[in-house]
Amino acid sequence: MAFRLLVTAGDGIGPEVTREAVAVLQGVFARADQQIVVTEKRIGGVAIVNDKTPLPQDTLAAALASDAVLLGAVGGNEFNALPPDKRPEAGLLAIRAELGGFANLRPAFAFPELAVNSPLRTEVIDGADILFVRELLGGLYFGTPREWNRSTGEAWNTMRYSRGEVQRVARIAFQLAQKRRRKLTSVDKANVLEVSQLWRATVQEVAAEFPDVTLEHQYVDAMAMHLMNQPRNYDVVLTENLFGDILSDESAVITGSLGMLPSATIGGKVNLYEPVHGSAPDIAGKGLANPLGAILTGALVLRHSAGMESEAASVETAVRKVLEMGFRTPDLARGAASGFRVLTTAEMGAKVREVLGL
Ligand code: NAD
Ligand code: IPM
Ligand code: MN
Repeated sequence: MAFRLLVTAGDGIGPEVTREAVAVLQGVFARADQQIVVTEKRIGGVAIVNDKTPLPQDTLAAALASDAVLLGAVGGNEFNALPPDKRPEAGLLAIRAELGGFANLRPAFAFPELAVNSPLRTEVIDGADILFVRELLGGLYFGTPREWNRSTGEAWNTMRYSRGEVQRVARIAFQLAQKRRRKLTSVDKANVLEVSQLWRATVQEVAAEFPDVTLEHQYVDAMAMHLMNQPRNYDVVLTENLFGDILSDESAVITGSLGMLPSATIGGKVNLYEPVHGSAPDIAGKGLANPLGAILTGALVLRHSAGMESEAASVETAVRKVLEMGFRTPDLARGAASGFRVLTTAEMGAKVREVLGL
């Protein structure tokens, strides 16, 4: 049976980087003598313009009928004045909710080749390898009530979690920690928020099922600092939705560029794959976007949805090789010594395929 991949490229650099990831996946499937059927549908701003909604019904139906969904990015400055439920981002949140994946895995790692790119000293980031497990369907993003009451000049959102929602994401984080260095850091704000007290108590309770994993708790403010001071201290980092959004972008500093970071969302009906970065309107349409985060996201599709672990590893190795060979997109060439070859988005994608022998 062919592997059915739905691609929702979205806005800004979304289509530019997704194209390269899809080309890599198609090449890898062909070489492995496996079939892949790629379907494309609209989401986000492009869907608002064409379909008057950020998540058209046929996109959702196609997503639910696929084996995996690869999303580029959504959002654009022209939509900034819209209320949250009408914006491109609402389409992303809706597809996340409909697909049901609640555990968003966001690896953040130091590439030796990119050490020069990080404002952090090489000896600080060297060997850092963190896996963020970000809860994706709860917290402030989905809690009600939520409203901006223009007549009273007040607005509110609700940070809400149930014990069950914390248990299920915590179990996934502990299981992943068991396969890594068996350390789990749970991030909260339990010194101030009841919802964080529930979070901490529940994570503590789930920890009893995983005696081989060492659990520690950190407040989110301190964690933001520790991550930059001692990134090597962390293995799996478990967070609620908003804290994970913020800390995962912060961790791009360890890798050297937001354009390098992949993500996979598991636990629901269909896994959803998205690079961590957004639609980057500041560089869209210029061939400046780094497609490696999207290509590494494609590697996660191979690993977590297609059962093609060795192919996933080969894509990851190819990305390292391309960096070793001195090829860079502009975000990776900043402040770097000369001798690097700066490539466009499409050239970088082609280089990865060349190294893979595709
Ligand atoms: P962003 O991630 O789009 O960009 C932040 C900075 O990183 C920009 O300077 C950008 O040029 C750079 N950058 C991002 N990806 C890059 C890449 N692949 N290569 C090179 N440089 C890259 O975040 P933002 O500017 O805060 O948000 C822009 C829009 O994207 C907003 O509408 C936001 O809501 C949306 N967004 C969407 C997603 C998603 O769809 N998954 C994620 C984050 C932000
Ligand atoms: C991300 C993005 C999204 C989020 C936005 C665009 C809804 O920032 O995937 O990190 O906050 O989850
Ligand atoms: Mn984000």
